[in-house]
Amino acid sequence: MSERILVCVAWPYANYLLHVGQIAGAYLPADIFARFQRLRGSEVLMVSGSDCHGTPITVSADREGVEPRAIVERYHPKILETWQRLGISFDLYTWTLTENHYRTTQEVFLRLLEKGLLYRATTDQLYDPEAGRFLPDRYVEGTCPRCGYREARGDQCDACGSTLDAIDLIEPRSRLTGAKPEVRPSEHFFLKLSALEEPLREWVRKQAHWRRHVLNFTLGWLEEGLKDRAITRDISWGVPVPVEGFESKRIYVWFDAVIGYLSATREWAQRTGDPEAWRRYWQDPAVKSYYFIGKDNIPFHTIVWPGMLLGYGGLNLPYDVPANQYVNFAAGQKQSKSKGTGTWVLDLLDVYDADVIRFYLASIMPETSDSEFREEELVRTNNEVLIATWGNLANRVIAMVHRYFGGVVPDASLQSPESVALLNEADAAFDRVGGELGAVRFRTALQEALRLAQAGNRYLDAREPWRMAREDRGHVAETLRTALDTVSALATLLHPFIPFSTERLWAQLGHRQPLAQAGWRRVPVPPGQQLGPAEALYRKLDSAAQAP
Ligand code: MF3
Ligand code: ZN
Repeated sequence: MSERILVCVAWPYANYLLHVGQIAGAYLPADIFARFQRLRGSEVLMVSGSDCHGTPITVSADREGVEPRAIVERYHPKILETWQRLGISFDLYTWTLTENHYRTTQEVFLRLLEKGLLYRATTDQLYDPEAGRFLPDRYVEGTCPRCGYREARGDQCDACGSTLDAIDLIEPRSRLTGAKPEVRPSEHFFLKLSALEEPLREWVRKQAHWRRHVLNFTLGWLEEGLKDRAITRDISWGVPVPVEGFESKRIYVWFDAVIGYLSATREWAQRTGDPEAWRRYWQDPAVKSYYFIGKDNIPFHTIVWPGMLLGYGGLNLPYDVPANQYVNFAAGQKQSKSKGTGTWVLDLLDVYDADVIRFYLASIMPETSDSEFREEELVRTNNEVLIATWGNLANRVIAMVHRYFGGVVPDASLQSPESVALLNEADAAFDRVGGELGAVRFRTALQEALRLAQAGNRYLDAREPWRMAREDRGHVAETLRTALDTVSALATLLHPFIPFSTERLWAQLGHRQPLAQAGWRRVPVPPGQQLGPAEALYRKLDSAAQAP
């Protein structure tokens, strides 16, 4: 029953604020999954950190005329604030600037070198003669050789999603000066992915449990044949290359960032006072590791990182890589900080409760196809689903126990067929919702949980306890006890999605034991238990005021 689970979440570049698409794509699903696993008694470690290197950071720094470190030091605290306010429950959220991360990256580099999986080669690179600098990755733009999109970046084309090599861009131009780049030779280290193609193919073939689009994308890459990839750059910001003669170069950001999963686990272990504890998550083959990412990161997590791990040896490969598609912004959903109609999560958090944002994003999570964010839909979902289906149910049941029984749970046998049926349904919901959550299908998990809330509403409406208060106290007592137990079950079932409000509700139910320790099961509200005051969990939102 008790499993050990490593939850790895993509490391966001610390060069900007977090966007709701990133939250719905990676951080919220990871957090829902981690909270669910902790509830069911798994030993969970959830790690990530800010991705501080690479041209995304240095391009921002150059533009502002500041040091790369200044960019990262500005945004890393904003990212931490986002986790705290949104309730993303990392066991460790670090960054790639730690000494531990540098050491781990260089150690992996040297081990792969020793194993013959890294080699040096001199290749043509783009160079800006006006700036006197090489132009790796995002320092160049040009036409995509695959789809013809004219604004492709040196590392990637946003139009067709291809991963690119700057040298292959058609009509490249320098983003530093606009100059036409020259071609100059430069020596770099390459990761011999070609040698790992067969073992990777064999491993991928066994991953039938992956999402279809992740599996297809990965098989497509393998089908084209794996090319060796440069893992160093002509740049001065990044992890130093631990080899003489490479002092002016740095390790490529994608090589160091994925190693972050391992280095962060080590940092966590050091912090717990047992520096060897990281091994429990990486060297025990029974541990399952899940990587929550957006779809643009798929090849780095299903090919490059597994390849590095295979080469390194003795460490677990990913068990699942449940990549999400994108959240698009409906036309007219412009970002406006003052109105909170932003795409930045911190702005949304100034206007809406974390649980409202979490609930809405879970309901549109782009698991199998792109979805669309609309602020008026967030408002509608708050009013018509979160409150109408769930919040009101909890609230009116607790209010009635106060009204009819002075806030003390009445004693009553739960014997009528409707009561038995509802409680059976509540028990079955733990299997159904748990099954979906365990299979990383969060939208259906949420729908399944809400089905129980709907059943609870139907039960109350059919038994009309408010009409029977005088005539049949036994009927009212049975109804409210059954409804309370159902609400208690729902608090647990919904906790991974909306942790803040379910914790508050848990206290209203009078439970002493914290919800996080309640287990993945229905915790009854026993007769005699004193309830806390009934307080509304959510606020109805005015849809007119939010319209753009
Ligand atoms: N920083 C990258 C991005 O935002 C993601 C890095 S994920 C990791 O696209 F695996 F490298 F950590
Ligand atoms: Zn393209």
